[in-house]
Amino acid sequence: MTTTRSLLDIDDLTNEEIDALFTRAREFARRPAPRSLEGVFCGNLFFEQSTRTHVSFQCAQMLLSGNVINLTPAQLSLATKGERLDDTAVTLRALGIEVLVARHPRAGAVAELAAAFDGCTVNAGDGTNAHPTQALLDTFTLGDILGDLRGARIAFVGDIRHSRVAHSSMRLLQRYGATVVGVGPECFLARADVPPEVEILRDFDGVLGDIDALVMLRVQRERFESMPIDDGAYIAAYQLDDERLARIGARTPILHPGPYNRGMEIVESVLRDARWHYRDQVSNGVLVRAALLHHLVHGW
Ligand code: NCD
Repeated sequence: MTTTRSLLDIDDLTNEEIDALFTRAREFARRPAPRSLEGVFCGNLFFEQSTRTHVSFQCAQMLLSGNVINLTPAQLSLATKGERLDDTAVTLRALGIEVLVARHPRAGAVAELAAAFDGCTVNAGDGTNAHPTQALLDTFTLGDILGDLRGARIAFVGDIRHSRVAHSSMRLLQRYGATVVGVGPECFLARADVPPEVEILRDFDGVLGDIDALVMLRVQRERFESMPIDDGAYIAAYQLDDERLARIGARTPILHPGPYNRGMEIVESVLRDARWHYRDQVSNGVLVRAALLHHLVHGW
């Protein structure tokens, strides 16, 4: 390995680096990917359940011929033998793991791992803090669909407070010149929950005709004690239902980081709508993560 770069937060990468990464991701889509992780041991350490992100990183590592080790926290010594997070990181590095992809329910925990791990650490989501690779794939996907993100008005709708996706993706889209709007009730969206330039709106119906892209978010119930708003009231005000679907632009893309909950933030028909780009996000995620790992390991 020539470098030991890590990605903990989206601000760890410059726009130039991200442009290079996106170009690389497009190359990976067109031709067989290089064997750039051949001989590199990649450890995936997920302290939270995950379908998309976990499998996406494994696919990306395998696409580049890396050696994939999926670590199950419940079976590690830190689960019952008192081994600390940082000691686990030291041990994994000494075992020969060079790339550590980690997800943890506590904000800052992945940074602690990274501080002790003398290799590449990638944050696959830490609490409500950050999810930088989701920001990369969201920005890549919206860039592909919209062409130019400059001036595009992009609305994030729902539980923004508990969404590490929103926290990372909003920032990156703003860096690419998009105008980001947050839409949700006070209990899920206060001024402190979003960057200062993000406009806060409570009325979903009021923005429908005036947006270039929509990012729907899940109510992340596992991240708070009790639902701060009545389900019925939430659905009435913020669900993307058939009526609202009919009022957004004929070509306005709808994104969702997944997992999506039918009957809550979206209705079933959204999943059959041509404007629903969820599958593109998931597929692009593999390419973007492969490009990221390639650059973190080999430099830019
Ligand atoms: C998200 C997550 O876990 O942060 N999912 C994902 O990684 N694509 C969003 C969510 O859980 O709602």
